[in-house]
Amino acid sequence: MAAFNAGPTTDEVIEGISLAGDIALVTGASSGLGVETSRALAAAGAEVVMLARDAAKLEAAADALREADPGATFHTHLVDLADLASVRRAAADLLESYPTIQLLINNAGVMACPLMRTADGFEMQFGTNHLGHFLLTCLLQPALLAGAPGRVVNLSSGGHRFANFNFDDPNYASRDYDKWQAYGESKTANVLFTVGLDARLKASDVRAFAVHPGVIMTELSRHMQQEDFEALSARAPGDGELTFKSVEQGAATSTWAATSPDLEGRGGIYLEDCQIAAPVAPGSAGGVEDYALDSDAAERLWRLSEELVGERFAL
Ligand SMILES: NC(=O)c1ccc[n+]([C@@H]2O[C@H](COP(=O)([O-])OP(=O)(O)OC[C@H]3O[C@@H](n4cnc5c(N)ncnc54)[C@H](OP(=O)(O)O)[C@@H]3O)[C@@H](O)[C@H]2O)c1
Repeated sequence: MAAFNAGPTTDEVIEGISLAGDIALVTGASSGLGVETSRALAAAGAEVVMLARDAAKLEAAADALREADPGATFHTHLVDLADLASVRRAAADLLESYPTIQLLINNAGVMACPLMRTADGFEMQFGTNHLGHFLLTCLLQPALLAGAPGRVVNLSSGGHRFANFNFDDPNYASRDYDKWQAYGESKTANVLFTVGLDARLKASDVRAFAVHPGVIMTELSRHMQQEDFEALSARAPGDGELTFKSVEQGAATSTWAATSPDLEGRGGIYLEDCQIAAPVAPGSAGGVEDYALDSDAAERLWRLSEELVGERFAL
């Protein structure tokens, strides 16, 4: 069963805000929330750089946005977040083209795929959702600092509640693979990365936010079977109904995180429904787990991530 949840849209949360002169990068901009986030930021005046791995799909998405809003500026750039060499190439090109960046929306993601490995051998969900974005963000740090004040928005998920991060075996080398556990771990990593990044960059006025966008029908469900929808519904509190948002409502919290004056002076926090999330309460549909905001775990993940990508960052 599904219900529809009214909530603000991208256009509503960005109304009256001008991003003229800003450069905004959006990953996963070939589909779903990334396309809508790109559209909304560009409509507010930002020059938007849409990033994705499939050239034809990315160009089709960008062309559709250009046609709908000829006054807006959309650039495109290829990056495969599941390949660290591709991330390094993209970051080098981006730094050259965009020496100042105000907004980085780390939105790309893969959910509940079968056991797969990235080009570098990492479990696919951890490797794509966290490590690819970790490396991209760290490499783009000079442009973020040069563009300050700015914000980094990391798309997490309510799915972070499925699992704490597993420091003993982050890549499923020695335990049975569970696709939902792995998704949860990667989405907890997105929040921990937000905490670690914000601690490092806040003195330079670059702030980081983690976002749960809601439940939205997008291509994210491409690996799901009917039984997965049933299992997710069964996890929903109350009467087992999943409550859906439209794509415009789903992208609203990312857009709010990137632009809202209500978040001035804040960072290292987890947002949902265009608000700062409360801690998880028994029976609640939303909220953020304490383990995802733990600053010691955030530091540990930072060091592990540096080790896995083979590079230390002067952040
Ligand atoms: N939709 C929801 O209900 C929901 C709920 C909670 C959190 N989220 C989060 O929201 C974010 C956006 O999801 P969505 O719903 O918009 O999903 P989507 O429609 O599947 O879009 C995901 C985007 O990520 C890209 N991507 C995947 N793997 C990549 C890689 N290796 N390198 C570069 N790009 C890659 C996809 O490109 P390809 O098409 O080429 O794969 C696509 O552009 C994700 O981080 C997701 O975890 C979504």
